[in-house]
Amino acid sequence: MNNREELHRRREASLLGGGMKAIEKQHAKGKLTARERIDLLLDPGTFIEIDPFVTHRCTDFGMAAKKIPGDGVITGHGLVEGRALFVFSQDFTVFGGSLSGAYAQKICKIMDLAMKAGVPVVGLNDSGGARIQEGVESLGGYADIFLRNTLASGVVPQISAILGPCAGGAVYSPAITDFVCMVENTSYMFVTGPNVVKTVTHEEVSFEDLGGAATHAGKSGVAHLTAPDDAACLAQVRRLLSYMPLNNREDPPTVACDDDPNRMDEALDTIVPADPEKPYDIKDVVSRVVDKESFFEVMPEYAGNIVVGFARLGGRAIGVVANQPAYLAGVLDIDASLKGARFVRFCDCFNIPLVTFEDVPGFLPGTNQEWGGIIKHGAKLLYAYCEATVPKLTVITRKAYGGAYDVMSSKHIRGDFNFAWPSAEIAVMGAKGAAEIIFKRDIHSPEDEARYTEEYKQKFANPFIAAELGYIDDIFEPRFTRPRLISALSIMATKVDRNPPKKHGNIPL
Ligand code: HXC
Repeated sequence: MNNREELHRRREASLLGGGMKAIEKQHAKGKLTARERIDLLLDPGTFIEIDPFVTHRCTDFGMAAKKIPGDGVITGHGLVEGRALFVFSQDFTVFGGSLSGAYAQKICKIMDLAMKAGVPVVGLNDSGGARIQEGVESLGGYADIFLRNTLASGVVPQISAILGPCAGGAVYSPAITDFVCMVENTSYMFVTGPNVVKTVTHEEVSFEDLGGAATHAGKSGVAHLTAPDDAACLAQVRRLLSYMPLNNREDPPTVACDDDPNRMDEALDTIVPADPEKPYDIKDVVSRVVDKESFFEVMPEYAGNIVVGFARLGGRAIGVVANQPAYLAGVLDIDASLKGARFVRFCDCFNIPLVTFEDVPGFLPGTNQEWGGIIKHGAKLLYAYCEATVPKLTVITRKAYGGAYDVMSSKHIRGDFNFAWPSAEIAVMGAKGAAEIIFKRDIHSPEDEARYTEEYKQKFANPFIAAELGYIDDIFEPRFTRPRLISALSIMATKVDRNPPKKHGNIPL
């Protein structure tokens, strides 16, 4: 066979991966192959493969005779909506997608290139973990990837799609990346599988319950997005990327906007109920303010009391953080603080301005929360907002009580534009609770209580004192929110702010 024929043979073998039988098995599970996934993720015809001829170096257990060009992972680069991207796609049809030393080197190579070029990395994960025949070489390979994930964090966006098994220490690569998207019923992530769990803790649990998409989206908060199948998951990854710059030196892309920047939505004027105890859906507010169809919520199943997601205002990408009065009254608890803090930090890493919609009655009281460390977890959200130097805009729609007022991007922690609706109540706490404390000796009947509550309400349940102090830049009717935010965003587009030089801060982890 001459070299041309040999090239052809190797290329064919590489394209076929583990062979037709394994491909059929993959399809029978409702999963796509590694190459089909790349084709769906990238713009058609843009994929350029690197390292299709790499093979493993293992000679034990008869492995020398089992070499497949590419060795279980497809790596390269391409375009998403015309913008560059590096990608690796684990091929379950080759040794169960398990990771060898050579396979790890392929991933590291594209990560190093991505860092030099300033281009995001998307990992499509579907793997039985460490290649058992290789032992420590495989473990070393994982560590090489973890290091690169960490060094790339905050430099280029990293997104992990989990499209099959992801077990053992292998989960730590996706965990370090910025977003984890899982497919329902065919993907799972855990440190140890159900068998080990049974041996160690005597718990009986299925793969799905232990580490399926629903578990990680709703219970653990490890997954940011879930999808019914591979194609929907990859579409989500494409959409996520559309809000991000290629790297931390760039601004996110601005898109043409056919939604009028001066559009006023009068329905906003009546969205907040007169009774402060009554809920309303903050997502309704967000969707009416931002560019039509642009709101993309992440972590929708986790800590519903805070809503986070991407959107656009006048074509500019923003990160939205909003308290949700329709879920636990929008209170800040441990889970909400963690969810909010990580999202705020992502946006700040990648120059995505933050728009905060605030209606928060405070931090959740109770032993559960205190013993669980609400102090240090709540501090994460506070720290994240304090250190963020991107443009920060805040709209107080109703309650801004207590410490939560400070935390939610207040003026005092470098909020650039802080607005309030007339329905805003900026106070240490709700009027009833406040009256019960400060008028304790004077309250002898329900009538007294009502009177003192009303007195406190008149004085503090409004935005005017904060506005008199300059803590609120302006108060306006809700319908003006969209144009006011767009003009604030526009004037702050050239914002420069810096934190003091340091190695890194010490966020209360
Ligand atoms: C080598 C592997 C493999 C592995 C699967 N295969 N996992 N080969 N190393 N880790 C091979 C199988 O032998 C099989 O080969 C083919 O891949 C498909 O696997 P099946 O078992 O037939 O598939 P399925 O029934 O879908 O089960 C998938 C699975 C299971 C649940 C992932 O294969 C499994 O439990 N694998 C072992 C997982 C594991 O313990 N990994 C090590 C974790 S520790 P043939 O030739 O028969 O087709 C770890 C440490 C990382 O990862 C540490 C990082 C710090």
